[in-house]
Amino acid sequence: MTVIDILILWIHIFAAIIFVGGSFFIWLVVWPVSYTLTDDEKERTRIVGKIAKRFAYFTHSSLLILIITGIYNTTWYLRGDISTLTLTTGGRILLVKSILVIVVIAIIYSNNLYHGKLITRLVSEGRLEEVAKIRKRTHMLSFISLSLLLAITGLATALQFY
Ligand code: HEM
Repeated sequence: MTVIDILILWIHIFAAIIFVGGSFFIWLVVWPVSYTLTDDEKERTRIVGKIAKRFAYFTHSSLLILIITGIYNTTWYLRGDISTLTLTTGGRILLVKSILVIVVIAIIYSNNLYHGKLITRLVSEGRLEEVAKIRKRTHMLSFISLSLLLAITGLATALQFY
């Protein structure tokens, strides 16, 4: 490995820390604490929405960095031979990891873009019963994406050993 390879792997790992750590922080800290801040559902949605909007900048940039540096890491990891992606254990782990990354990106963006806007609109219109129904769905999708992030980091660790 060259110094550049190490530097780019470090950027990849740091972006993963921001993205994965931030996602867990929102669900384990921001979300539960928001219920203790106010009883007004409109106000609570506004607060969480503002925090999520700010974190979205970091989600976009860290995901972009992860994809670009991930493709770079792949060049040295597969030793320039793309066929190892299906022929070796390490290659297969990398393939599964990349597919899971695509799935998690699809879930996060469709969930946030579609449900995020819908919830904000329904809360502002006072349609709280509908919001409760949608929240159940968004919580399930968030739980799935957090579980996939656990799997992705597990596979990333396994890459070290194959
Ligand atoms: C959510 C997105 C991602 C996360 C959380 C993530 C996480 C990580 C972590 C934590 C490592 C360090 C593993 C270690 O050194 O023990 C790593 C390494 C690596 N990642 Fe990713 N990654 C992501 C996306 C990608 C993508 C999209 C690719 C390929 C296109 C990729 C390819 C690699 C490669 C080749 C390594 C080097 C493996 C090694 O150190 O032996 N990653 N990743």
